[in-house]
Formats: sequence, C-alpha cells, structure tokens
Amino acid sequence: MKQSPQKRIEELRDLIREYDYNYFVLNQPSISDYEYDRLFNELVRLEKENPQFISPDSPTQRVGSDLTKEFKPVTHKTPMLSLSNTYSENELYEFDRRVKEGLPNNEKVEYVCELKIDGLSISLKYLNGKLNVAATRGDGSVGEEVTNNVKTIRTVPLNIRKHPTAKLKLNEFEVRGEVYMESEPFKKLNEDRELNGEKVFANPRNSAAGTLKLQDPQIVAKRPLQVFLYNFLSDSAEIKSQTENLSLLNDLGFRINKNFKLCKTIDEVINYCREWEDKRDKLPYEIDGVVIKVNSLKQQKILGNIAKSPRWAVAYKFKAKQAVTKLHTITWQVGRTGTLTPVAELEPVFLAGSTISRATLHNIDEIKRKDIREGDTVIIEKGGDVIPKVVSVDLSKRSEDSRETKLPAKCPVCGSKLFKPEDEVAVYCENNLCPAQVKGRISHFAARGAMDIEGLGEALINLFVDLEFIHNYADIYSLKERREELIQIERLGEKSVDNLLLSIETSKQRPFDKVLFALGIRYVGSGAAKKLADHFESISALAKAGETEIEAIHEIGSSISQSVSRFFSDEHNKKIIERLKKAGLKFEIEKKHKRSNTLEGKSFVLTGTLSTMSRDEAKEKVIENGGTVLSAVSKNTSYVVAGEKPGSKFDKAQKLNVPILSEEEFLKMIE
Ligand code: IVH
Repeated sequence: MKQSPQKRIEELRDLIREYDYNYFVLNQPSISDYEYDRLFNELVRLEKENPQFISPDSPTQRVGSDLTKEFKPVTHKTPMLSLSNTYSENELYEFDRRVKEGLPNNEKVEYVCELKIDGLSISLKYLNGKLNVAATRGDGSVGEEVTNNVKTIRTVPLNIRKHPTAKLKLNEFEVRGEVYMESEPFKKLNEDRELNGEKVFANPRNSAAGTLKLQDPQIVAKRPLQVFLYNFLSDSAEIKSQTENLSLLNDLGFRINKNFKLCKTIDEVINYCREWEDKRDKLPYEIDGVVIKVNSLKQQKILGNIAKSPRWAVAYKFKAKQAVTKLHTITWQVGRTGTLTPVAELEPVFLAGSTISRATLHNIDEIKRKDIREGDTVIIEKGGDVIPKVVSVDLSKRSEDSRETKLPAKCPVCGSKLFKPEDEVAVYCENNLCPAQVKGRISHFAARGAMDIEGLGEALINLFVDLEFIHNYADIYSLKERREELIQIERLGEKSVDNLLLSIETSKQRPFDKVLFALGIRYVGSGAAKKLADHFESISALAKAGETEIEAIHEIGSSISQSVSRFFSDEHNKKIIERLKKAGLKFEIEKKHKRSNTLEGKSFVLTGTLSTMSRDEAKEKVIENGGTVLSAVSKNTSYVVAGEKPGSKFDKAQKLNVPILSEEEFLKMIE
C-alpha cells in the first residue's frame, strides 16, 4: 500500500534530521551527498504539493525569506549572567578560597573547566521539543529575538533529536551557549568581502555578532556561524551537576565542546588553563580563556550570585595574543591632513583571527624609544579588536645589517617638502595636492559618519584617483556623466557602477552637519561640525563669521576657529563648495531640521514599523524638536509612538496608561 504523503513527510524529516546530526554535529556523514539531496528534494516536493503539512521545524524551513525588520525584545526568564575575570594563577587560588569559604565546613568542591569560546552568548527556548525562540544576551535581562537567523545554523536542532526519556519532562526548556565563527571560514569570508569592496570584520566575534543582526536570513545562511551549547535550564529536569548538564545536552543532540574537564583540585584547574593557553592556536576557533564552574548545582545554589556574576564561576583570561615576525621595512603613510605616520611592514603572520602584515608605529619618537630597526625580529600584539602594535624587539635576533630609520627628507608620495610645527611630534607634507592627501580627503568625505557613500571604499578611491576620474571630492558628483567609461573598467561591472552611482545620489540627502564634517576641515570632527551647523545654520553664515564669533560657541576653541577661517579663505576650497552646492548637497539646516522646542520635556518610546520614516529618522525628529527618546516604557514615558506590528512596548504602554500616538498623530505634533 502506498504511504500517505503526511507519513512520508514525517519519515523524511526524521531521516534528514538524523543525517544532519551525523554530518554537522558529529562530523560523521552517514550517507552520500547525492542520496541526501535526493531525499531532501523529495521532502521539498511533497511539502510543496501538501502545504498544509509544512511546519516551522521542518529541515526545509531553516532559511526563511522574510526580512526581520525589528529584533523584538525578549525577557530572559533567568538572567544571563556574565563572569568576573581573573588574569593570574594567584587570582584562581583566591577564587578557590572564596568558594570554600562560602560552603559549609570542609565540603569537597569539584570544578569543571570549559574553554571560553570567543563569540557571543545565545539563549534557545524549546517548546515541546521544538525550537521556539532564540535570543541574544542583551543587557542580561532583556535580549533581542534572532530566531530566524539562528535557525540557519545547521548545528542548532529545530526539533530535538531524542525524544524525552521517561525521567525527563521536556515540554519546556532553555539551552544557552555561544555562537561563533571558526577561524578559517572567517578568513575566507573576509577575503571575499575585501574582493567585493565590502568592509572587512575586525575578528570572528564581531563577524558573528554582525551576522546575527542581519535582516536577511538568506545572507545569514551563507555565513559560517557555529554554536557550542553549555547550559541546560529546566524546572522539571533533575540535574545535579555541570557534567550531567553537558552530557544531557549531548544526548539531546546539541553540540557541546568536548574539551571540558572535571578537576578535583584548583591545581588541576591551573594545569588545564596552562595547557590550553599553550594549545589555543591548534584549535580551529578562537578562545579567549577558560571558564571554571563549581560542578555541583547544589553548591552553585548555596554560593549564589553577586550583582551580575555568579560566585560559583569565574573566567581565566589568556594574555593578549602575541606573535613573533620579521619587520622588513618601515614605510611612511601620508594622511589626509598631510601627517606622516610610520608603518611597520611585516612578514605576514596569522594572529587572533586575521593575517597581520602591517602595524602602526605611531611616530618617530616611539620608534627611537623602542629602538625598532628595519630587519629586526619584533613581537607584535593584538588585544581584542585593536589595531596591532609592535610591542618590542627581540634583540637576541638582531642582525648586523639591521637598519635604523630616519624621518624622510621629503614626502614619500609626492616628493614635496615636509614641515614640522614646533609644538608637535608629527611632520607634515606641505603639498595640498599630494595624491595621498587627495585620496585621504576623499575617503574621509565618503566615509560612514560623513557622506556615507556605500561602496566607495579605499580601493575604489585609489583606482579612481589613479585613473584620473576624480581629483577632489566634488568630482564624485560628476561621475554619473562618465557611466559608460566606468563600466569599461575591468574590475567594475554595470551593476556595481549603477549601485555606486545610486549611493552617490542618495548621499545628497545627508544633512548639513554631516556635509560640513565631510569637508574635512582640520580639527572639525563630527561633534564640532554639529555645533557649528546648529549655531550658524548655513555655510554662508559660517564662511562669513570671524574667528571671535566662532570661538564664542561653547566648546569651540581657537584651533578650530583658525582652521575654519583658513579653510574658507582658500580659493580652491571656495570653488569646490560652489560645485557641491550645484550638485545639490545640503549647505544649510533644513527647515524641519531647524531646532524647535515643541517637544521639550517630553519623552518618547518608539515601537513597530513606521511607514514614512525609519526608526532613526523618527528618533532624530524627536531630538530636533527638543524631546528625548527612551528604549523602554515606564510610567514616566510621555508618549509611545506605535507603527505597524508594535511589540511588547505597546502592551506595556496600555497597561501603564501611557498615551499611544499613531505615526500621523506624532507628525502632527511637530508640524
Ligand atoms: S558560562 C554564569 N561557559 O563568556 C555563567 N560562558 O562573561 C555564564 N562564554 O557571556 C556563562 N564560553 O558569552 C560560559 N564555556 C562557557 C563559555 C562562556 C564563552 C562567554 C559567554 C559569557 C561570557 C562570560
């Protein structure tokens, strides 16, 4: 007799789940790719023919097509704690002493050591064996819902593999762990991004965090996210220890990190830490330390928590990762203001998630102080996501032909004369038209906090300047007249040229203060630009103002005022501004951007999707009109502005009798 489609669908799902588990969690494929695809396609077909049987936990439903417009808040039933850090063996002895003091006399303590995965914590809630909600840690009490993105991670079971045993009632439980990216796939992802002119991620952790917050699960599915789970929480399961906790997770089909160890003494713990600090480079993923947990859950309960971290656990953090490499030469980079910065050109080494081939040396004084010479063997360090630096020289390896560095006699890029202001360590290239300065100014102009021209990164700017498509930032807005020529450039295609031209057009909407910042007037950072824009309201008023008038503004000093005057008295700058005006950039505060105090003293909470503006635009509108925006509703909130599909903030506002405004009503208020 022929099987019913429903039965076959269920059978296929069970089979595929089992094969997925073998392949992704155990790393032991149990059928051929061909056979797997055949079964998967059969399931896709049957679900298409019988859509009434599609369920969210089907293996076909991992990658959704809906965009996540808003990451909804999720309140953690049990707060997600963080750990206090220790950095030395002595501190671990102290931790052991504190634990023992906190327990009844002479109770034996065992510790579980686990690797501290360098990713971000995640909470997965399961209802009746099915993944229901995945959330980030957030501030520990409230995180953000990222279910659609987490579903794409193949090692996260959508439906737990083994069904609840008689002893365990598992209709509702939560598991916690770490989402991360392995080092090799991360490297590859970054290489691809670089090739495509996209911004590279500083490290695997940032990359994992950024990926989890993408709106499109189809893109997330292509990124190499991974998980390790380490905590099982349930009211009904009787678990006595962390080791039982880990083995239960394992039995239920969750991916756990098998390198944990049960230690009977703190000395064993210390040995584990030493061992892994040495071996960390051999792992295919990044760890930044060891997590030490009291094994007995009964003892954990007695010890309890202090503020936001438990007394029963601690993190042992490894020292910043260092690497030894050869410094080939010292080159001088010329910035947009002409500053020369020495850069160490290194033999490439892989360190903390990325390949390092350059490190900054700050200035000539620093080079002298550390006695760094070309040809030296140097120790470099990278802590977290900071730019790598040269820590010291391994003098035992210094060879006779190592060479001291001197300040160059002229600009290494254009050959112009250099000058050194008396009160500064830095030296500058005098030539305003030096290609390095030109490229630097254009880069600054197009950057995110300035004109925010997506796709116009450093590589493309170098190319455009070298091919003489642009000589200054005003030329960016004439690029559209040369579309045909641009398409002919080998590395660009029609689509990427059109995307670029579109983002150039879009940038014309940037408000006056961002345009002012983008101009790159020395000492005028984004904060000063905002103050100047708010005060003078237009570029003509600013250009006319005298130094004293500018300095009268709170927190604007003489270096800014002098620099502004100098900028506006330069004929070349005047011409460029005229061209930018013609192109349609905003050189005055828009009427609606002009400050009002209609909303003064009023606080707003935004929820749901608004139809005429983004959240950020709404936020700006509130601030421009003198109000404040808060993230959570309380009885002191003046108004909640609710768009479509409002979240829990809407319910809370109703409960607390906070007035709820529609988008229209809100806009009327500030008309
Ligand atoms: S246990 C109260 N175990 O490190 C227990 N955390 O500040 C808290 N982490 O937020 C977590 N690997 O994101 C635990 N094996 C591990 C871990 C781990 C990485 C992260 C986690 C947590 C942070 C501690």
